[in-house]
Amino acid sequence: MSLYRSFLLLLCCVYVVFSGANASDTITSSEPVRDSETVFSSGKTFKLGFFSPGNSANRYVGIMFNLPSPTPTAVWVANRDKPINDSSGLLTLSEDGNLVILNGQKEIIWSSSISNSMKNSTAQLLDTGNLVLKDSSNGKVLWESFQYPTDSILQLMKMGTDKSTNTTALLKSWRSPDDPSVGSFSAGIQLQYIPQAFIWNNTTPYWRSSPWDKQIYIGLPEMKSSYHSGVDLVSDNAGTAYQTYSNGNQPWILYYSLNSTGSYQEKVWDQSKKDWVVTWANPRSECDIYAKCGAFGSCNPKSSPICSCIQGFKPKNEGEWEKGEWSGGCIRRTALDCERNKTDVEKGKKDGFLKMQTLGVPNFVIWVSSAKEDCESDCLSNCSCMAYSYYTGIGCMHWNRSLIDIQEYSMDGAADLFIRLAYSELAANDKKDFPVAAIAITVSIGSIIVILCGYLFWKLLAKHRERKRKSETFLREASPKIYQGGMIKDDINQVKIEDITLYSFDMLANATDRFHSASKLGQGGFGPVYKGKLPDGQEIAVKRLSQSSGQGLQEFMRGSRDF
Ligand SMILES: *[C@@H]1O[C@H](CO)[C@@H](O)[C@H](O)[C@H]1NC(C)=O
Ligand SMILES: *[C@@H]1O[C@H](CO)[C@@H](O)[C@H](O)[C@H]1NC(C)=O
Ligand SMILES: *[C@@H]1O[C@H](CO)[C@@H](O)[C@H](O)[C@H]1NC(C)=O
Ligand SMILES: *[C@@H]1O[C@H](CO)[C@@H](O)[C@H](O)[C@H]1NC(C)=O
Ligand SMILES: *[C@@H]1O[C@H](CO)[C@@H](O)[C@H](O)[C@H]1NC(C)=O
Ligand SMILES: *[C@@H]1O[C@H](CO)[C@@H](O)[C@H](O)[C@H]1NC(C)=O
Ligand SMILES: *[C@@H]1O[C@H](CO)[C@@H](O)[C@H](O)[C@H]1NC(C)=O
Ligand SMILES: *[C@@H]1O[C@H](CO)[C@@H](O)[C@H](O)[C@H]1NC(C)=O
Repeated sequence: MSLYRSFLLLLCCVYVVFSGANASDTITSSEPVRDSETVFSSGKTFKLGFFSPGNSANRYVGIMFNLPSPTPTAVWVANRDKPINDSSGLLTLSEDGNLVILNGQKEIIWSSSISNSMKNSTAQLLDTGNLVLKDSSNGKVLWESFQYPTDSILQLMKMGTDKSTNTTALLKSWRSPDDPSVGSFSAGIQLQYIPQAFIWNNTTPYWRSSPWDKQIYIGLPEMKSSYHSGVDLVSDNAGTAYQTYSNGNQPWILYYSLNSTGSYQEKVWDQSKKDWVVTWANPRSECDIYAKCGAFGSCNPKSSPICSCIQGFKPKNEGEWEKGEWSGGCIRRTALDCERNKTDVEKGKKDGFLKMQTLGVPNFVIWVSSAKEDCESDCLSNCSCMAYSYYTGIGCMHWNRSLIDIQEYSMDGAADLFIRLAYSELAANDKKDFPVAAIAITVSIGSIIVILCGYLFWKLLAKHRERKRKSETFLREASPKIYQGGMIKDDINQVKIEDITLYSFDMLANATDRFHSASKLGQGGFGPVYKGKLPDGQEIAVKRLSQSSGQGLQEFMRGSRDF
């Protein structure tokens, strides 16, 4: 019951507010629109009339969604650069058939400026939000607001160039929320091989979408989902490239506009809040600003500082770069092989490509007809080719100048950009992987060597010990007196007793007939010398040290060398 009453009350309010409404959706010379009046489209989706934006007192003619927004949003403004300062304005049709705005002095403030009209015409606000001027006699459209967008784009509007109608439509931002006059930002489509969306600050690029892959702009992978999935782009080889969008049969109310500080926004009507909500805006981050890190610089919003030179490049001006002035960009550290003087004696190794995952691709794409498998080799064979990328839906892209506007990105939807580098710079990259693989290899090889050396050393030591043990055993047996424990040990080490052939005492005793006096050759300084004969027939001389000589092993060795 109370709901019904409020509804009636609401209807009354609506009626009171819009009591000045034009009965129809058309404007004729006999039915002009005064400042206090409003024209509604047939389905009441849009309305047209005079309004004052923000805190301004100026009067403008605009088209607005017919929604109870606290801040009525004009999606199109006629006299944006020429406001009326009072409520004396009038929107009507002039004698020549043009749609005009007159001020209190009946001066033309704004005109649709159709030169060859001079006809009986009518203007109509369509339910799409398009204001059309038609030839009354044949219904031919002479002019339409959709061809002259201000800062907003509605369904069925085209943003960009349509060669079939010879029109180029740019969005031009308001100067401020209070002032719809042309501001410094504009948005549109640039066709350079492949269409890209741009926002410009005056004539300088401010933001760039990356190329259209026939479904999305590849620098905006999130376009695959949500509201913006209705965005489409039409292009042909004749130079047509314009963006449109369609809600399809979705229930939401949505439009796009470029705000006065250069943000291209998607706005969706929130029925519960009774206001517009920004659901998507570009640029999204500092890194989205065009050419933020200069030529061959790469931006990553997650690092600090956000700018770095691509691998193989160094800051052009180190001092400026350190100060965060990145616009100077980076230069190559090592000249490309293909650029080098071919008379050079040392011929470098062939250039190669560094793979980088990026958000979209750099500006100034050159589309080439190469197949996927030839995209790399075709780039490599042309020294002016700085990079390549292959993208399904686009094909092979080459770059033949400084790589501008690169963002590092490793998430789903990243592009694979292959950047030409000198061989040595690529090799340097391989070294980056050193710690993981190479340390493991080094460690394992090292361990094997250590183990092997240890084993060999142990074997050698064992052999050494074995020989020493044998010699010592022999010596102990042969001459217990000489071998007096540790005393002789040192001598053994010094003279390398292992190096000489040893014979047992019994063997020598037999060879000399038990040191018979008949075998005695003579008497040396420290003992007698005997002549003997080994079992194999070899004649030998044997010196027998006398127990009293006190001689050591050294003397013995010397003595044996004397033979
Ligand atoms: C409004 O504009 C008219 C001419 O466009 C001018 O003559 C008049 O002085 C202005 N009035 C105010 C209050 O600024
Ligand atoms: C203009 O067209 C309307 C509708 O066709 C017609 O009623 C009217 O007489 C015409 N006016 C002139 C001046 O031709
Ligand atoms: C577009 O403009 C060109 C030259 O300005 C002209 O030759 C052509 O007829 C125009 N096309 C259309 C459809 O108006
Ligand atoms: C836009 O360009 C002007 C110079 O034309 C510059 O002063 C201003 O800072 C730029 N704005 C932004 C947001 O880059
Ligand atoms: C434009 O939109 C951006 C992003 O939503 C916002 O930060 C900025 O304040 C807006 N500018 C104005 C003048 O409202
Ligand atoms: C080789 O390079 C030097 C300097 O870079 C240049 O002066 C010279 O003309 C080059 N020679 C040839 C054969 O290109
Ligand atoms: C190399 O590439 C440049 C620019 O991309 C092009 O103008 C030139 O014709 C190419 N040269 C060859 C030999 O393909
Ligand atoms: C890049 O290629 C385009 C098209 O082939 C050519 O017009 C331009 O001069 C080239 N630029 C450079 C720097 O080689």
